[in-house]
Amino acid sequence: MISKFIEPKILKKDLEYRLDLKAERPRKRNSRLNPEVFRRSPYDSMYIYRIDDLASFAVFGLDVKITPTGEVKIIEVNGIRSGMKGFKEAGVQYEETPSVEDLRRRFPFQLDNDELWRYIKAEIDGKNSCDEALTTHINGLGDAPIAYIAARLIRAGQDPHRMEGWDAIIEQDMQDYLDFLSPYSKLIFNKDSMFSRELGNVHSGWESRYGHFAETLIGIEKILHDKLQADRFFDECRGIKPRTHEYTEENFQRLVQTEKPKYVVIKPHDGARGEGLIIVSATASPQERPAPTYGLVAEAFVPSKPIFSAKDGQYHDGCMRYVLFVEEGKRGEVNLSPFGGYWRLCPHPISEELNLDGMRANLAQGAIAEKVSPDDLRTVRTSIERDIPTFYKAVVQRANPEKAMAWLMNEYSKLEKR
Ligand SMILES: Nc1ncnc2c1ncn2[C@@H]1O[C@H](COP(=O)(O)OP(=O)(O)O)[C@@H](O)[C@H]1O
Ligand SMILES: [Mg+2]
Repeated sequence: MISKFIEPKILKKDLEYRLDLKAERPRKRNSRLNPEVFRRSPYDSMYIYRIDDLASFAVFGLDVKITPTGEVKIIEVNGIRSGMKGFKEAGVQYEETPSVEDLRRRFPFQLDNDELWRYIKAEIDGKNSCDEALTTHINGLGDAPIAYIAARLIRAGQDPHRMEGWDAIIEQDMQDYLDFLSPYSKLIFNKDSMFSRELGNVHSGWESRYGHFAETLIGIEKILHDKLQADRFFDECRGIKPRTHEYTEENFQRLVQTEKPKYVVIKPHDGARGEGLIIVSATASPQERPAPTYGLVAEAFVPSKPIFSAKDGQYHDGCMRYVLFVEEGKRGEVNLSPFGGYWRLCPHPISEELNLDGMRANLAQGAIAEKVSPDDLRTVRTSIERDIPTFYKAVVQRANPEKAMAWLMNEYSKLEKR
């Protein structure tokens, strides 16, 4: 839902945030792809792409906590737009990136030029290797198919994050215009009515072969955008995520009785960057809480184990950002490629008291980015590898239009048999 009126303050914040993200990853404009590739059917192509073995894919930016008893809990699943600049802030490198020490060791002869090594180190530190590795992974699925999928996302008004080559399909000036208009134009104009719905001069084989990847991705993004809807797909692996409830008086009471939390989080179902989120005591009276209104959700507050920050020498409540590429093979098997994680530590140190700045960890709200210990990374990775395939399969069932239709028909046939 888009509200008719946006507060100028929020608008400004959002704009700054988006500009910052853009600065972080300049879009590749000069496609090496020949637009002629798209005039022919991909079925006649002699290339075999890695994507041809897949049924669907998505990018997940998970918000994850480790509780004082060592349990892993997913707080939120962000989609393809989830930012990765915290990796650089925390000084985290992609696990397969060699360190300067590694390079030095691997070098066939002694190179005692400290100046040069300092230069190499600065080069490595200046990169966001996790982000780069993810970009390489996505585009490595197949340059032309990814370009087509990216162009389809653009046509649907979505940003084709980290996907390259779309400029071979979408005309440059139209894209500049879209860039100029977005994101606020979406509130005013319907882009589809301003531009032709078709992508310029592309053989229809591209749509029949790769269009469903874009459709599914758009479907997944829609589900993830709504915290209440996304939560339902964890029903088969509930242990990894606190249940999200619609915030009503009755639900609040029931949550407090059955889950017995000390604190309850109340937040907008479609929120982002920690905005509009509040935390109340489980014993708070209705007068001490927001009035239940449409669009608010409630969750038991999951406390974090204390995490040490080297930046201020204190312990904090942390919520990790963990980035994954998820792919589904043709036979329904799900494979995960992790791209690492970093802690987002609440700006204030951890305490037993109710204090939003000690309990909410978003970079946009002043969280500190810190490296994660190998032990904690392993703990999180094990739980995620166990449960995310279950979650993903459930999401894809609904996100892919063809599968959603098959599901509906199946439900319908059950009704008929009754
Ligand atoms: N149920 C919860 N338990 C513990 N912390 C939470 C919970 N819900 C939100 N938070 C904290 O608030 C932050 C923002 O909440 P989140 O659900 O991720 O919304 P947003 O989309 O605004 O990032 C999280 O990173 C986490 O630190
Ligand atoms: Mg979040």
